Amino acid sequence: MNKLNLELESILKIGKVTSVKGRYVEVLVDKSKNSSHLLFNGEIIKNVSVGSYVKIAKGFEELIGKIDGEFIVEDKGVQDKSYLHEKERIKRILNISLLGYFQKKKFKQGIKELPLIDNECYLLTQVEFDRVHHFIKEINGVDDIPLRIGNLASEKGKSIRVGINSLFASHIGIFGNTGSGKSYTLASLYNALFEEFQGKDGFHENARFLFFDFNGEYSFGDCLSSEKRVFNLSTRKKLEDIDDKDKLPINEETLLDIELLSILASATEKTQKPYLTRAIKLFKNVQKSDEPLEFFRNILKKKVREVLKMADKDKALALLDYLIVIVGDDALHSELFQQIEWHNTLHFFKLRNGVSRELTDDEIEATPIYVECENYEFPENSLEKIINFLYTQLIIDVYNDKAFYEHIGPAVHKLQSKTTDLEKIIDFKSRHSNVFNDSNIVVVNLNDTNIDIKKIIPLILSKNAYQKQKKRYKKDNKQYLNLIVDEAHNILSYNSERESSTWKDYRLETFEEIIKEGRKFGVFLTVASQRPSDISSTIISQLHNYFLHRLINNKDIEAVERTISYLDKVSFDTLPILPTGSCVLAGLCAQVPVIIDVDKIEEGKEPHNETIKPTDFWE
Ligand SMILES: Nc1ncnc2c1ncn2[C@@H]1O[C@H](COP(=O)(O)OP(=O)(O)OP(=O)(O)O)[C@@H](O)[C@H]1O
Ligand SMILES: [Mg+2]
Repeated sequence: MNKLNLELESILKIGKVTSVKGRYVEVLVDKSKNSSHLLFNGEIIKNVSVGSYVKIAKGFEELIGKIDGEFIVEDKGVQDKSYLHEKERIKRILNISLLGYFQKKKFKQGIKELPLIDNECYLLTQVEFDRVHHFIKEINGVDDIPLRIGNLASEKGKSIRVGINSLFASHIGIFGNTGSGKSYTLASLYNALFEEFQGKDGFHENARFLFFDFNGEYSFGDCLSSEKRVFNLSTRKKLEDIDDKDKLPINEETLLDIELLSILASATEKTQKPYLTRAIKLFKNVQKSDEPLEFFRNILKKKVREVLKMADKDKALALLDYLIVIVGDDALHSELFQQIEWHNTLHFFKLRNGVSRELTDDEIEATPIYVECENYEFPENSLEKIINFLYTQLIIDVYNDKAFYEHIGPAVHKLQSKTTDLEKIIDFKSRHSNVFNDSNIVVVNLNDTNIDIKKIIPLILSKNAYQKQKKRYKKDNKQYLNLIVDEAHNILSYNSERESSTWKDYRLETFEEIIKEGRKFGVFLTVASQRPSDISSTIISQLHNYFLHRLINNKDIEAVERTISYLDKVSFDTLPILPTGSCVLAGLCAQVPVIIDVDKIEEGKEPHNETIKPTDFWE
């Protein structure tokens, strides 16, 4: 060892291990090191302080720990204290938690060995410090591609780079109070990623990103990417003012999902959901036949014949009404009843001014309603088409006494009442359900939609994209899908009293499945939320990487604490006092949790979320 190294070692050595309790170690600091800074080679080195790292030498092993806290005790060994400097009279003890070790000049996370009493403890040199903060891992023998995301907060000049694969092939959680910088961090991360890969063919072909933008923060200008495709959904505008390109393509096949229809129709579990299931089955059966239209017309015609011969007036009139909804309108109603009427004492339909007898088959076939059934065409709009099938199933069920129309009718009415809103945001004439047709980066702007739509659309799209991705991935395992949900409490809240069980099932099926199984199909989720305590713990606990901004509420901190057990005490304690734009990064992509200042976003690319300065408008 040369002179410099010896000097360095004596300067950096701070004390000795005095107690080892599992991964928690106590170190007694040498009395000469009790000042806040040390001088070495003309440079000031920061001395031991809470939050900094230390190295413990055990033979040739170098164990790395973080200082969680420190305390002092009176040094009983010193006899005459009166002439001594304060720092000579005390013992200074550090609480250290072990994090990892150095192996072949690389930092490895985890505990391989525990130190022994009297092992020496050192401050880290700059090189060693950099080693601890070098987060780029090898994957299959090749270094991951680094992406700069910010600076270390405690050391301004130190960039933090993470491996793109260890961050973006993972589920990410971004949490923090309002205004703490979550949306900004989210935009900064994805902005950096897209800049790196924009213009590369493989990226456009194989990677898909779907952003749900509840507040319209990412939908403007060049935020995230200049090549994104934005769907500016609106339930406030008038239908005729909405461009088809701002509607989501969702086709028949996607709509024919029992859970989805049940939610749209607010269907009850016991009676309405089974009825919807039957209606979907009817739809599929008709669709499967050689001539679907003929098949369906025949069903309708048969029902007209049956209904016009029924003996229960109320039921017959109600069923006629439903048939009229399918094939005609009010005009058909009055036309029909100009021709036929109900015979009150004999209980059947007869021709007006005709003799008192039941209608003959020929007479029925001449009624305007029968003629309409013969000429029936499927509506171009897939929602209208489905509603026609719902009415048909309703007629079949009521006719066969399988259900009362009072019981199942409301489901159809509910669905119908939503058609106006749904038609504003969904292009039901679309033959495909692929939002990624124009770009691999899609932002769905939900800012101008009502609450119902805000809840349902992310679910429909996510589920659809997930199912498609599964198929794509099985064929070609290069495919990648990332779903990004800012303000995730809108759809992932743990326990909303108002939600029905159907809604919960659907959500569980979608997001919890993505969290649990998505990785196997190249599907990853990024969620950002103000209230981690509100979000289902199944989801929070399965995230791989966390960006924790300022969190003040105890419940939220606890929710995070419960799930990220490896987060050290210092990082926890800083959560309530983090400044805007700083966050704790913890998880797979960072071998030690670090506090970072997230990188600024280029002007014009920031999300639209500036906090207003009211006094600017008060002069
Ligand atoms: N790293 C940063 N650098 C510069 N400014 C930032 C940074 N992070 C956040 N800000 C600014 O702080 C403000 C609040 O940030 P942001 O909107 O991201 O907070 P949020 O946590 O998403 O809040 P909310 O929960 O209300 O959506 C914004 O004006 C944003 O521009
Ligand atoms: Mg936000």
